[in-house]
Amino acid sequence: MYKNVPIIPLAVIGVIIAAITAGQALFIDWLPPADSVEAGRTFTLMWFLFWCSVVFFVIVTSVLVYAIWKWRASDDDLEDGPPTHGNTKLEVVWTAVPSILLVVVAVYGYIVLDRNEAVAADRVEVDVYAQQFMWTYGYPGAGVESGDLILPVNRQAQLNVRARDVIHDFWVPEFGIKGDAVPGITHTLWITPNKVGTYPVVCAELCGVGHSVMRSRVRVVSEQDYAAWLAKSATKVKNAAAASAAAEKLETAPGDAAAGKTVFEAKCGGCHAALGMEAGVGPKLAGINWSDEQIRTQVKNGKGAMPGGLVSGTDLANVVAYVQSIQ
Ligand code: CUA
Repeated sequence: MYKNVPIIPLAVIGVIIAAITAGQALFIDWLPPADSVEAGRTFTLMWFLFWCSVVFFVIVTSVLVYAIWKWRASDDDLEDGPPTHGNTKLEVVWTAVPSILLVVVAVYGYIVLDRNEAVAADRVEVDVYAQQFMWTYGYPGAGVESGDLILPVNRQAQLNVRARDVIHDFWVPEFGIKGDAVPGITHTLWITPNKVGTYPVVCAELCGVGHSVMRSRVRVVSEQDYAAWLAKSATKVKNAAAASAAAEKLETAPGDAAAGKTVFEAKCGGCHAALGMEAGVGPKLAGINWSDEQIRTQVKNGKGAMPGGLVSGTDLANVVAYVQSIQ
């Protein structure tokens, strides 16, 4: 039955089709470099699927092209052609082969997914916050917040992805991992970067007018650099908190009205006429009956035409005492 298989023409057609298909695969950059352990596995699976497709595409297309070329009906041929019956052997083969292949792909896919989602004991955890139109990264242990995602190389990072407003999508193409940020849900992603470098973070879900500019960066650094960065950032946070606590202590300490009068004259007297006793550009302050807290907040933040932050620290405490003394 297979004695008359036209091996040579089929082979020639097959080689041509294989060259065209493989050329597209090899000469176009379909995927970014795989710079995480997970991307390595996923991209290998993707290429396995691709080359399986190439093999079957070449077989099917070669037979089809040969049949069209060889047995094409001539223009004046109106016959139905000879009757053909099924070929049981062939049908069993073309059912069995794809079935086996499907099972192989399913098992392979499961293994990749299972490994990519295996949680490592020494992982670093980072909270990823998405909002219109920026990314923020929080390091829970250290109390640090950052606009760039800093990760140590060759160590698994667990990203707890959350959204503060609408749906966004965290994506680093080189890491081969992508995950939606959905309000009310924490979406966990695991990434193990294996190359030092800087990569773009892209929002991959249309989230509003600023979607296309919703970008940030991942910096993958050595373990030492990561530890140094984290320690430095934690110290900065601590110092800032200490400084603001110290400032608050000075501002809220009991002030001296006489000293406050001097400060008031220099900093506030231009607008508040006659040391606040009469209306000038600013309103009259005598008799307003405000609490210390209200006066302090007003001086710190300003309001309307009045600028905030002109007086701070002990001066602020003294000004509060002065205004209290005249009202
Ligand atoms: Cu956020 Cu698109």
